[in-house]
Amino acid sequence: MNIGIIGSGGREHALCQKIFESSITKKIFCFPGNAGTYEIAKNIDIDILNFKNLLKYLKFYKIDLVIVGPEEPLVKGLVDFLNKNKIKVFGPNRYASKLEGSKAFMKSLCKKNNIPTANFKICKNQRQVLEFIKKSELPLVVKADGLAAGKGVTICKAKKQVIEISNEIFKGKFKSSNKIVLEEFIEGEEASYFLLVDKDSFKFFGSAQDHKRVGENDTGPNTGGMGAYSPAPIINQKLELKIINRIVKPTLKALKLKGKPYKGFLYVGLMIKNNEPFLIEYNVRMGDPECQVILPRLKTDIVKIITDVVNNKLKKTKIVWNKKKSMTIVLCSKGYPGKYKKGIYINNYYNLKKDENNFIYHAGTKIFNGKLVSNGGRVLNFTSMGNNLLQVRKKIINMIKELNWKNGFYRKDIGWKIVKKK
Ligand code: AMP
Ligand code: GLY
Repeated sequence: MNIGIIGSGGREHALCQKIFESSITKKIFCFPGNAGTYEIAKNIDIDILNFKNLLKYLKFYKIDLVIVGPEEPLVKGLVDFLNKNKIKVFGPNRYASKLEGSKAFMKSLCKKNNIPTANFKICKNQRQVLEFIKKSELPLVVKADGLAAGKGVTICKAKKQVIEISNEIFKGKFKSSNKIVLEEFIEGEEASYFLLVDKDSFKFFGSAQDHKRVGENDTGPNTGGMGAYSPAPIINQKLELKIINRIVKPTLKALKLKGKPYKGFLYVGLMIKNNEPFLIEYNVRMGDPECQVILPRLKTDIVKIITDVVNNKLKKTKIVWNKKKSMTIVLCSKGYPGKYKKGIYINNYYNLKKDENNFIYHAGTKIFNGKLVSNGGRVLNFTSMGNNLLQVRKKIINMIKELNWKNGFYRKDIGWKIVKKK
């Protein structure tokens, strides 16, 4: 099979690596990919949001199956477009992608179906904001309705800040949003729970916890994710049943009733408070960097799994996991998530030893004049597997030290809540 992967991050390199290991795969094409996928696939540097042009390339290279990594093409309807053009594709349709593409849509669906989530109000103007503030306690969370590249959520400790932030959004700070969701803050522990979904069934596809803040001890501004580990020990069997019965099943049923069943990866973003799950967000894709810790633990052929989903045969698919734990630490460009330089040479990379337990997934990298250079804020994902996460973390940090990239920084405390010091 010729397989096309849409996207260019660490998530897509991890997918590409697993797909490369499958005996079903003939050739892989990445749109646009990065310097990591370049080693095992053909990178095609085109605008992935220009669907018509993308279709030309898919036909030219005789691509049998397309796997969509990031949210933007999904929310903009790439799956519907490719289906119409008879190209097999793995991912949710445009309507179902509103679970991530519109927070107002997601919250309304929760309310209609009694799904546990933070109390909220969808506000279209400042008057509605003031009304909700009057009745609520601080902190409050302001969320831009549409996609905002991870920058649309602010946790506000003062009412004045709620008013300021919501005003900025109403004035057009994010092109995708003219309304906001204002919601109560839930104090708890976050966890990400992943599923594969086809028309008739769904299956567990790993759990993880990531670290969104840039600084150690979870301080400083939010990022795309500084590191993660899998599995998430907070998710036990009892909690899993609650997640499935109270959150997942009613959501999938609601989409089915609309005639728009979900298909693809589903990322359930949770806050766990007193052993009760609350839905914080849905993402209609794998997480990044969560994908980079979940996929190394997958033993079953990923292409077999994905084709089963595409053909609505997931019910019979057996998915086997490695018992080992995994962790990834993201090496970032200095300055991220603020301003940072691109195009800095990464000299020692090709000398580093990788093996069946130690991987490096590329994110913001490219080949320039035949050499590896940085091309983004999150640059490389160092990932290891083992039985003890403290040892795993030590191993990763040693690898990063060996690379000795002067323009980089990383968090040394990934997993601090569960990694024992001794
Ligand atoms: P979201 O994009 O909705 O996932 O929000 C980004 C991050 O903000 C989440 O990963 C949480 O850490 C935090 N967050 C969002 N909503 C809430 C909430 N209602 N209570 C507490 N934290 C929240
Ligand atoms: N790691 C968070 C996300 O992928 O949205």
